[in-house]
Amino acid sequence: MPLIADDTPPWFPLETERLILRDPRPEDFDDIHAYAERPEVVRYMAWGPNTPEMTRTVLDHWLEVAARWPRTEVSLVVEDKRQGRVIGSIRLTIQDEANRTADFGYTYHPDAWGQGIGTEAARAVLGAAFGPLGLHRVWATCDVENHGSWGIMEKLGMRREGTFIKHLKPRGQWRDTHFYALLAEEWGR
Ligand SMILES: CC(C)(COP(=O)(O)OP(=O)(O)OC[C@H]1O[C@@H](n2cnc3c(N)ncnc32)[C@H](O)[C@@H]1OP(=O)(O)O)[C@@H](O)C(=O)NCCC(=O)NCCS
Repeated sequence: MPLIADDTPPWFPLETERLILRDPRPEDFDDIHAYAERPEVVRYMAWGPNTPEMTRTVLDHWLEVAARWPRTEVSLVVEDKRQGRVIGSIRLTIQDEANRTADFGYTYHPDAWGQGIGTEAARAVLGAAFGPLGLHRVWATCDVENHGSWGIMEKLGMRREGTFIKHLKPRGQWRDTHFYALLAEEWGR
């Protein structure tokens, strides 16, 4: 039986104390571009800083993917409930249905950094992954110098399973990458 069958209900939108994690909408463009165009946001990423055309291409892809269900790739925008605007995005992709394994990743506007937003959204996604989705293992990666990112993973109880040396060359320089993972039976311990 597939992990997500035609009659499986979507595991999103998700709501937390401060956030709504939902499918993107065309009118989210300005909010998404406001962080995607910033060099400090993409410092450890293989993409960006985005031109408006690049952000348009990404949003169009998200909108096209969001129109389908069931699907294995889910990119949600993160809306700040108080401000009523999008401050970031979070993605969960089922990489291996047979072994019920997914990876996830996230990006936020600098104005939102350092307030536990990234942890709050990632906690909600892991809750869905190990809850309604029934996944066995979720993993994520980050640059070894991206303390905010591995800070989120450690706060969620994820285990650093290894570090790949000179693993990626995002901006012309080899970078080391931490690999983190969590199993269903470890979630909520
Ligand atoms: C990395 C990122 C997602 C962190 O999001 P955030 O909302 O600021 O993270 P949180 O506030 O939930 O912080 C989680 C933990 O990480 C650590 N942390 C956060 N920012 C940090 C920083 N600048 N330096 C060192 N540690 C940091 C802390 O331990 C923190 O927990 P604490 O506040 O209880 O001590 C955010 O900075 C971002 O969007 N960066 C640009 C995109 C990116 O790099 N995405 C990840 C790619 S792998």
